Amino acid sequence: MQLLEDASRRAMAYLESLESRAVRPHPDAVARLDRLEVPVPQHPTPDAEVIAQLDEFISPATMGMAGPRFFGFVIGGSLPVTVAANWMATAWDQNVGYDAATPGAARIEEVSRRWLLELLDLPRDCALGFVTGATVANFTALAAARNAVLRRAGWNVEADGLFGAPPIQVVVGEECHPTLLKSLGMLGLGRSRLTRVPVDSQGRMRADKLPKLSSPTILCLQAGNVNSGAFDPFPELIAGARDAGAWVHVDGAFGLWARASKLLAPLARGLELADSWATDAHKWLNVPYDSGLAFVRDAQALRSSMAITAEYLPDQGARRNPSDFTPELSRRARGVEVYAVLHSLGASGLSLLIERNCAQARRFAEGLKAAGFEILNDVVLNQVVVSFGDAERTRRVIEAIQEDGTCWAGVTVWQGKTGMRISVSSWATDDEDVEHSLAAMLRCAKATE
Ligand SMILES: Cc1ncc(COP(=O)(O)O)c(C=O)c1O
Repeated sequence: MQLLEDASRRAMAYLESLESRAVRPHPDAVARLDRLEVPVPQHPTPDAEVIAQLDEFISPATMGMAGPRFFGFVIGGSLPVTVAANWMATAWDQNVGYDAATPGAARIEEVSRRWLLELLDLPRDCALGFVTGATVANFTALAAARNAVLRRAGWNVEADGLFGAPPIQVVVGEECHPTLLKSLGMLGLGRSRLTRVPVDSQGRMRADKLPKLSSPTILCLQAGNVNSGAFDPFPELIAGARDAGAWVHVDGAFGLWARASKLLAPLARGLELADSWATDAHKWLNVPYDSGLAFVRDAQALRSSMAITAEYLPDQGARRNPSDFTPELSRRARGVEVYAVLHSLGASGLSLLIERNCAQARRFAEGLKAAGFEILNDVVLNQVVVSFGDAERTRRVIEAIQEDGTCWAGVTVWQGKTGMRISVSSWATDDEDVEHSLAAMLRCAKATE
């Protein structure tokens, strides 16, 4: 037990250090990782020494993603209650495949499912799979889509595979996330064998360019473009598609959370009419990695694509079996942290978190624009793309900002222009962090003039 106390002391010291240390790990700390490249240990090492070594070598070589001034990719922090819940869940070490075997961990998923559907205002009887992230949530939901559209065409894809199956028309926007294409590839639907619909200047699918849909069809839409934060025009796109017999899927890795705020929900209006939705909990819900959510309106389609039976496994009882809805049979109890954050924040706290991050993104845009830099996107959510001049200068400024260490943001190319992406997605970011980071960005930009 002393070991666990020591580890929690070290973890807390690490979290406290994030306020003052450089966000990017120092190159010396990264270079010291080479010292871990030793031959396989032939004899035991005391546990305390193993933990001390992890802290000594890995803590300084981490990126400060859990801290308040990390704005790269789309990365949430972890609210303290979720870290604590994660520690409890790790101690319980439940394999949450079956309700009969792990009733506590299974029930907490069921409660979280009900709460999430209400908070996101999705159809209340949707099935939900607790998976590792949006990539796998897309995969999971699209497996249900594949099942359903082929079943309607008289084909059982789980039994007979795709060989000889009726061809499925898969429609995506030009600006869909690359992991969506990966998910389609893993499902045998092809990364390239797609109909790509042109998008507008914000990356939104153009409804006037949607081709005529013929069954069996899967239409993939997006809530929250990874660069601009823009939302596809759901009302125009979804009704017609469903009338044509298409399955409509929405990748809402972070944008789906807009629906938890009354102010922002209009951005995502109409997506509740889709058939399935993917999102991340490890982004804007601020739970530890890894955690994603796959919602599917047709529970039977998801169960048909995921559930298994075996003599040694428990019988299906009356309650929801977690593994009937996920690609994995064995997995950790991800619902515990989701439950903890929803319970701790409540609807009002969640809404405030989302709104605060969006206001902080607007403040970044306003401050950078006031200093003469071009904002390349309409800042509708938590994403800002800024240009510091031509591609070469923008890249130099980004490198200087990363090296400065006050904050961290990465490079992108948006609509043909090189820019820096700022994603504000963490509970830990307060308004002072934004001012402090903005000042650092402007200082670095000036220094590279
Ligand atoms: C729109 C979108 N879809 C999917 C993903 C993939 O999410 P994950 O890395 O959690 O699997 C992302 C990641 O940023 C995203 O922004």
